[in-house]
Amino acid sequence: MNTQSTALPEGCMSPRHWAHYQKAEAMMPWATQTNAKRYDNDFIATRPPFIERAEGCRMWDMDGREYIDYRAALGPIVLGYRYPEVEEAVRRQLDKGTLFSMASPVEAVAAEAILQTLGWADKIRFMKTGADVCACCLRLARTYTGRDHLATSGYHGYQDWFALSFGWPNPGVPVALNDYIHKLTYGNLESVEQVFKAHGEQLAAVIVSPVEWSQDPRPDYLKLLRERCDQYGVVLIFDEVLTGFRLAKGGAPEYFGVKPDLSAYAKGIANGYPLSAYAGKAEVMDTLNRSIITTTYAGETLSLAAAIAVMQVFEREPVHAHLFRLGKRLREGFDAAFAEFDFPARTIGVDVAVDIAFSGTDAEKLKNRHDLFEKLYAKGIFANNEWFITYAHRESDIDDTVAKLRESLQELSNHG
Ligand SMILES: Cc1ncc(COP(=O)(O)O)c(C=O)c1O
Repeated sequence: MNTQSTALPEGCMSPRHWAHYQKAEAMMPWATQTNAKRYDNDFIATRPPFIERAEGCRMWDMDGREYIDYRAALGPIVLGYRYPEVEEAVRRQLDKGTLFSMASPVEAVAAEAILQTLGWADKIRFMKTGADVCACCLRLARTYTGRDHLATSGYHGYQDWFALSFGWPNPGVPVALNDYIHKLTYGNLESVEQVFKAHGEQLAAVIVSPVEWSQDPRPDYLKLLRERCDQYGVVLIFDEVLTGFRLAKGGAPEYFGVKPDLSAYAKGIANGYPLSAYAGKAEVMDTLNRSIITTTYAGETLSLAAAIAVMQVFEREPVHAHLFRLGKRLREGFDAAFAEFDFPARTIGVDVAVDIAFSGTDAEKLKNRHDLFEKLYAKGIFANNEWFITYAHRESDIDDTVAKLRESLQELSNHG
């Protein structure tokens, strides 16, 4: 194992983080499991590579530095870290056990609670990750239609079908799969018409994220997809891995008024516990009776207990109104600050998770983004692209964050 220390990168505040990173990287390629958490990806020296604990809307790195967090563990945290009612439900289930030799009754209790919260789907099954459930939806659509092709926009996880369609470098994925994949562009109605005209009769499924956070939402795109899927007998799948339980209790069908045939859910369903679900119309879900989708850990009870508690909180508390209200406050504060300092950026997307759109040349955009986030991390504000609001954020956290953004812009303008 290579534990030889190399020099601290310029601007890196923490010798302890750097030493741990080197040790981790020597044993584990990337030094982590998740692409978006890689320290070497989009390197910003002040961003801590390791977080030791979190509570509410705050988290602490290995040096004990505190951050107001808007990354929400890449989306799963909707209520705030370690929401007491959810933690208590997990502790109670832990006393009974995690996994048994036959199904746990908790599986059906969770199914009922989630279907009731969603309000549009007839049936549901569980998995563990977002990639899992997107793949399950595609398998069901193929079984249901007897066709093989898919049309897609956006990211749906690392698995072969979606790896190719997302356009990452993909050594190890058979290129032959490309013959079955047809790319759509979010919001581009023409791309929908072209793909359906050329391949409508071959398509088993269209799978899209109802919102791409870096763009303004396009309900007209979703409506057109619904129309064309009906016309050609194609299964419409919404990848609600990130939008589910965040846009609204019922997700995209409630927010946009467009119903898919199947949806994939993951982040947001169990406040950070590893659970995902695919749900939809009975006639499509029932194809599970003639195919096999199975895995050992999908009925793990701690995450199901967490999900039941999360649904109860959604039922009782004005969670989504809070996310929208505070998101709007953050957004207005940011846009006012960008205007005041004449900084070439504006917020974009949906209030619950706005993005900052930088303007200028590609090089200018990159530099401005890098310089701004370098300042924000150093001041204890943590976000990446989307600024996820949780139920644990308070007005004072938002105001504090806007103040830190103003300070950052002030410092950048003094510099420039
Ligand atoms: C829209 C969307 N779909 C699918 C995935 C994959 O989920 P997971 O990382 O849990 O496999 C992600 C992950 O970021 C996502 O944002």
